[in-house]
Amino acid sequence: MKSLFRKKDISGLLDQATPLKRTLKTWDLTFLGIGAIIGTGIFVLTGKGALTAGPALAISFLIAAICCGFAGLCYAEFASMAPVAGSAYTYSFIAFGEFVAFIIGWDLILEYALAAATVSVGWSGYFVSILENIGIHIPTVLTAAAGTTPGVHTIFNLPAFLIVIIITWVISLGINETKRLNSIMVIIKLAVIILFIIFTVWFVKVGNWKPFSPFDWYSSHNGSAAGIIPAASIVFFAFIGFDSVSSSAEETINPSKTLPRGILLSLFISTILYVIMTLIMTGVVKYTVFAQYLNAPVLAVLAATGQGWLSAIVALGAVVGMTTVILVMLYGQSRTSYSMARDGLFPKMFSKVNKKSQTPVLGTWFFGIITALAGGFINLNILSELVNIGTLSAFILVALGILVMRYTQPKAKRGFKAPLVPFTPIMAILFCLTLVAGLNWETWVRFIIWLALGMTLYFGYSRKHSVLNK
Ligand code: ALA
Repeated sequence: MKSLFRKKDISGLLDQATPLKRTLKTWDLTFLGIGAIIGTGIFVLTGKGALTAGPALAISFLIAAICCGFAGLCYAEFASMAPVAGSAYTYSFIAFGEFVAFIIGWDLILEYALAAATVSVGWSGYFVSILENIGIHIPTVLTAAAGTTPGVHTIFNLPAFLIVIIITWVISLGINETKRLNSIMVIIKLAVIILFIIFTVWFVKVGNWKPFSPFDWYSSHNGSAAGIIPAASIVFFAFIGFDSVSSSAEETINPSKTLPRGILLSLFISTILYVIMTLIMTGVVKYTVFAQYLNAPVLAVLAATGQGWLSAIVALGAVVGMTTVILVMLYGQSRTSYSMARDGLFPKMFSKVNKKSQTPVLGTWFFGIITALAGGFINLNILSELVNIGTLSAFILVALGILVMRYTQPKAKRGFKAPLVPFTPIMAILFCLTLVAGLNWETWVRFIIWLALGMTLYFGYSRKHSVLNK
């Protein structure tokens, strides 16, 4: 029983040499963060969000941002204390021991894989429409998984499958290639968002913001939950990803200072852009209009301002934006499985680092192919809420971990200290619990099934093979 809670020691972690290549600086990390954060959330989910909260969607975004801000401060402290790969998995290993660490690692694998697969489906939707516009037609059966579009016969989402495979290949080439591709695409994505803001802000009509919060904080509308809080649970997805920045600890220069800066800066920049964009979107058109534009809400705004010429550019920005989300999610996934395999909790082959590329090639490909197949074949409409519950659980554990560490290891060296502890982690936990409460019960059942699978793996394999066993 005691062995379930065997812990890792911070000094041991810091002493271990890493075969990965250290090249990332503050701005690379900030770009990785923005790469992971801005994507489907703003380009797709704002439509559903606006219908749920009305113009007060901007407040929903702020609430989700505050939740992530509190959690981000806890991540930043942990990242500065234990700058090694593995993110919440490694932090839980130090604070709670092996069993909790395994469960959270297992949970992160699900979060990253499902987030990447879900975003690859959104990517495919935008990509197929761009191809249609230039006269290239992909057979409909190859544009979505079976059963996803009522009344349309589909079998396999080929574009979603291919984009995940291509990105997996880039990640396996090396961290420099990954970093370069990500930075270029993040610059394009930011440029498109700024262009959108500049060209549409003039069309805001204050009348569209009235009433500002038609469904209050929490109410029921047409049989489903509406209001600022339920919308915050939906758009929380838009902030997911900043945690994957902390996966890069062993590839970062001076990680105990650089990681906290990268995490907090990317969160800050994304929040500002989100709030401005949602205020503009609900100011240019009445929020009810988004019902006709659920898959591409930004296009509703461009149509209303008569700036159709921008549509193609924004669609391209959305495709590029979602590409970086997939990239950083798959990157986080490969580094989490790498850490777990290095600790013996997954088969050793996943931690084997290729000498030339200095990346864990086998693990990257294994999980990349599974994610690609999920994006290609599975109806993800019903599974994507699992990403939120997985991430929120990780946030709660990291915040709890900070409370435990301040109490058990007050003297451990910290390059960054979260302010106002215990207030900050407690607020992170309370906000996360509020958002978890906004998710439906089916999501809970699926999450418990996933955890049960994880426990079977842990007791059947990982516990025996753990390096701490020796
Ligand atoms: N935050 C990411 C997105 O919105 C997952 O696509």
